[in-house]
Amino acid sequence: MNNYSFCVPTDIRFGKGQVACLATEIARFGKKVLMVYGGGSIKKTGLYDQIREVLGEYEVYELSGIEPNPKLSSVRAGAAICKEKGIEAILAVGGGSTIDASKHIACAAFYDGDPWDLVLDRSKAVKALPIFTVLTICATGSEMNPGAVISNEETKEKLEINSPILYPTLSVCDPTYMYTLPRRQTAAGTADIVSHILEQYFQPCDDAYITDRLSEAALKTCFKYGPIALECPENYEARANLMWTSSIALNHLLTFGKGGAWSVHPIEHVLSAYYDITHGEGLAILTPRWMRYVLNDETVHRFAMYARNVWDVDAADDREAALAGIEKTEKWFEEMGLPKTLGEVGIDDSCLDEMAKEAVRTSGISSRAYVKLTQSDVRKIYEMCL
Ligand code: NZQ
Ligand code: ZN
Repeated sequence: MNNYSFCVPTDIRFGKGQVACLATEIARFGKKVLMVYGGGSIKKTGLYDQIREVLGEYEVYELSGIEPNPKLSSVRAGAAICKEKGIEAILAVGGGSTIDASKHIACAAFYDGDPWDLVLDRSKAVKALPIFTVLTICATGSEMNPGAVISNEETKEKLEINSPILYPTLSVCDPTYMYTLPRRQTAAGTADIVSHILEQYFQPCDDAYITDRLSEAALKTCFKYGPIALECPENYEARANLMWTSSIALNHLLTFGKGGAWSVHPIEHVLSAYYDITHGEGLAILTPRWMRYVLNDETVHRFAMYARNVWDVDAADDREAALAGIEKTEKWFEEMGLPKTLGEVGIDDSCLDEMAKEAVRTSGISSRAYVKLTQSDVRKIYEMCL
């Protein structure tokens, strides 16, 4: 196992009714709160009223309309409010997009230049407001990690800012808030969790036994409960298991003792930067194709292990087992109603070279990935998805 540092300071309040804790917890940092939320789902579901009631004693300012694939312009608007009103804490109510925008706002509040500078040069992000979150869709793990992915609509870049100062202070994870999620978002969110686990599972390290077994359990949880949540949106057991899986899938627990660059995420991030598609749908299209593309004599043993341990494939031959595992993965995405081709999400072949170049430029995919990929490899994977 590789040397590893593991420190996750986020206080998780999991379960029904936990939101009430915000009445006292935020007050430890101050009374001036910026409440950040998305396009209005929390108003429709009644969560907005519930939270405003809990925040009764606070001086609350609002920033609404955070878009899926959150934009730099929203971050600029949020940072301006923080500076003007002397905000003391941020409360993000929503999913990864709202939480990511809030994280970026939290550090931009202490920076005099343009917030995009902090993405390009992380050393400039030195201080952040405390971040509280109320999670309404499980997918990204942003509620328990130090990353935030922001899209710059002017340059068509979608990049991550990642710093220990961006760990949320406290996250409320109440599975009942996901009862209202549309089928499409449930499916895309679960695909994102699966992808996070796979990105860490398929890394060049074979002796982190404990980490691999935890990852397999997390994958089995998604494959079991994703379809149940889809069919029975108010199944607490399914929502609860998926919610906790999303947090541990991306809080570094499943990369403990391992390491390396991710593969499918950088290829997807360019798609959602160029075409504003749903992140989890892009991952569902790309993942099986990436698996087939990187399956070779060196990787076959890990793909076979994945097939046997996660999908109970019993083929004795490694290659046969590996292919069966990939097929099962692909079928699961299909059963979740996720798209299979780029055409289904409105992407044609017009920018493939440009996007492949960008995926390589903005990531470690060509130098540190499980199987190192060049621009031409990434283009071929895109072609397989058309
Ligand atoms: O905006 P509203 O009206 O709230 O609607 C949202 C949005 O349209 C809706 N929704 C959320 N909770 C709901 C609900 N609708 C009904 N009932 C509820 N309870 O769902 C839609 C999607 O929300 P969003 O926050 O965009 O989803 P997600 O959590 O999947 O976040 C995606 C973003 O996170 C980034 C992605 O690239 C993308 O920009 N990621 C962030 C990561 C991180 N911070 O660690 C890692 C990931 O790999 C990912 O890149
Ligand atoms: Zn993701």
